[in-house]
Amino acid sequence: MLSIENLRVVYHDVISVLNGISLEIKDGEILVIIGANGAGKTTLLRAVAGMIDFYDGDIIEGDIKIQGVSIKGLDSTDIMKRYGLTYVMEDRPVFDYLTIEENLKAASYSRWDKHVKTDMETVFEYFPTLKLLKNRRAGYASGGEQQMLAIGMALMTKPKIMLLDEPSLGLAPLITEELFRIIQKLNESGITIVLVEQNAHAALNIGNRAYVVELGRIVLDGQAKELIHNEDVREFYLGAGETKRKSYKDAKRYKRRKRWL
Ligand SMILES: Nc1ncnc2c1ncn2[C@@H]1O[C@H](COP(=O)(O)OP(=O)(O)OP(=O)(O)O)[C@@H](O)[C@H]1O
Ligand SMILES: [Mg+2]
Repeated sequence: MLSIENLRVVYHDVISVLNGISLEIKDGEILVIIGANGAGKTTLLRAVAGMIDFYDGDIIEGDIKIQGVSIKGLDSTDIMKRYGLTYVMEDRPVFDYLTIEENLKAASYSRWDKHVKTDMETVFEYFPTLKLLKNRRAGYASGGEQQMLAIGMALMTKPKIMLLDEPSLGLAPLITEELFRIIQKLNESGITIVLVEQNAHAALNIGNRAYVVELGRIVLDGQAKELIHNEDVREFYLGAGETKRKSYKDAKRYKRRKRWL
């Protein structure tokens, strides 16, 4: 289990972005995190993946633990190697000038074993499109193909926990559906998934549990399928509310749970 305890993160010593976030990710689940732009979702993933210092950020309070052991202060490579945690970033970094196959090989750099070829075949089973395009330069791939490649690269590290930051961003609805089916399959194969999404409906549909983040705090949590029917979630994140509250300033109307205050 991964637990985040009262985490506070600031950028450049002064910009306070996470203001005491606590949450739990259980082994084997798909945990969904939704929240408006700027709520701090990406910051949370950066902190968990040990990458916050690349962005001039600091954890000033709280802790992050895997199976009860603190990982705070470890760098991203250590976290990946020791705990099998991988982070697929929002901007899908791939090596443009390398082919898709070369990208996958490059992503296995942290491995000592000799099973890279078999694992690449596994990636191709999840993403047949990548196999078809394996000799094409990644820079020429479409947004959807690059997202699949980014996830494929993460798979090459043989992860136990995968953090996904808005994988559906900019993808056509059908591609998004396909991608979410694959995320579900990855989860069924035993990978714990943390899914940050703006596409709340699709994410809540495949998720087990979910948290709503606002201004660096958790304001709501519950079973993912139940949150689909929550009035506030429907209004703010699913565009399906009854009234026309337009601003997140009304967030105080959330029936906040005491422990998050
Ligand atoms: N490196 C940085 N330096 C300073 N401020 C930053 C930095 N990175 C993010 N921020 C600020 O922190 C806040 C939270 O950003 P973050 O990217 O975590 O939000 P988010 O929930 O992922 O938003 P989005 O849905 O737009 O991706 C924003 O106000 C953002 O401007
Ligand atoms: Mg983000």
